[in-house]
Amino acid sequence: MASSIDVPREQWATRLGFILAAVGSAVGLGNVWRFPFAVGEEGGGAFLLVYLLFIVLIGFPAMLVEFVVGRRTQRNPVGALKRLGGGAWTYVGGIFIVTGFVILSYYSVVAGWTIRYAILGVQGGYESDLEAAEVQFGTLASGLDAIAFHAIFMAAVIAIVALGIKRGIELAVKVMVPTIIVITLGLAAYAFTLDGASEAYSYYLSPEFGVIAAEWQSILPAAAGQAFFTLSLGMGVMITYASYLGEDRNLAEDSAIIIGLDTLIAFIVGLVVFPVFFTAGVDPGEGGPGSLFVTLAAAFGDITLGWLIGAVFFATVAIAALSSAISILEVVVSYLIDEKGIDRKTATLGVGGAIFLLGIPSAMDLVLLDLFDGFADGILLVLGGLLLAVFVGWLTGNFGREELRKGIGDLGAYGDAWIWFVRIPVVLALIAALILGILGYYDFLTSMEEGEGFAWWIEENL
Ligand code: PHE
Repeated sequence: MASSIDVPREQWATRLGFILAAVGSAVGLGNVWRFPFAVGEEGGGAFLLVYLLFIVLIGFPAMLVEFVVGRRTQRNPVGALKRLGGGAWTYVGGIFIVTGFVILSYYSVVAGWTIRYAILGVQGGYESDLEAAEVQFGTLASGLDAIAFHAIFMAAVIAIVALGIKRGIELAVKVMVPTIIVITLGLAAYAFTLDGASEAYSYYLSPEFGVIAAEWQSILPAAAGQAFFTLSLGMGVMITYASYLGEDRNLAEDSAIIIGLDTLIAFIVGLVVFPVFFTAGVDPGEGGPGSLFVTLAAAFGDITLGWLIGAVFFATVAIAALSSAISILEVVVSYLIDEKGIDRKTATLGVGGAIFLLGIPSAMDLVLLDLFDGFADGILLVLGGLLLAVFVGWLTGNFGREELRKGIGDLGAYGDAWIWFVRIPVVLALIAALILGILGYYDFLTSMEEGEGFAWWIEENL
């Protein structure tokens, strides 16, 4: 392999650049699309409380795991695990690359919908009737429209990543992340003036402990999965981003800032979305994963100036998705640069093009999107995170704590506390999430439910 020759590696120009890039990765469809609907489905404030707990207990230690691996090795996930573990661990690194490849293929399709829906608002086109909104989503979500906007989105992702760390990613996130923050705050201020606001706040902000007690079996895994996804963990993104860091950085402080901002933005999105729902008289627990584009779009169709607010909202979501998508492509590209000696431009165009092609089935049929999503997000992501936690927690001795100490100084008892959080709660939560992911995927594969199950799809199409 022409590979492991040490080519000079780019680094982030500034500390802020690294933090914004990581925040940009974390804040994405997960915050806007998955978070409010997880809250809606899992009982409002009760879920919010458990989720916040999981962010701190599971998300924070797991992010540090990826950071120490990336900074120590200065490598992409495959190269990193090859250096630290060698042997079969190299293949574990391979899981990250495959996961990124697959996730980006449909993430880009969904991101394409957000661009389409921003334009739809400007055209004054949100259907206020739920059934009509569903039909509208059906025509826009699959087919030529979807493929076209998937292509536009991927082109933007490729353009940014091709420019590299400092001139591409760092520059882009310095514009995108502040924009996202300012606009979501503005939207929340607007939502405050809506009629349904006070009802929405009490639903969102006052947890009923009875709900947690009654439904913990579904709330706990949902909260763990969401915490992982929203922090961009399990896919090597944070390994890759930390590989462009120097040893003077305080990783614990940086992750606290990154996690704080991601959580804050998700929380504020809830302050936007729930008042809109309650004002339009829509049940926030309804709608499932299509709900951002059906239920919420219909709510925008229903309220005064909803077209404008909707357009701004969906455009912001598209920007958030873009700053996440570049982090995913960067994982795969950094692998090809480090391990295969391919230059950045060629790698970016080649991989970006291949990911676009892989996304086409998802842009043609929602069941196929679920086929990719259930496998990559429900299984691969969790598996990668689990193996990495076991590796750093149980198999690499003191390396994790040593690496964390750089840029911090004496860790005291915190270093041990961290490693024990990785060893037990993080590993257990991921094992539980993995089992549920596999069971859920099995259900999907064998389901005959019309328009939803894969067994149904096979019978219909083959
Ligand atoms: N964190 C991103 C979001 O919330 C999604 C993501 C997952 C990005 C994994 C990169 C890696 O949308």
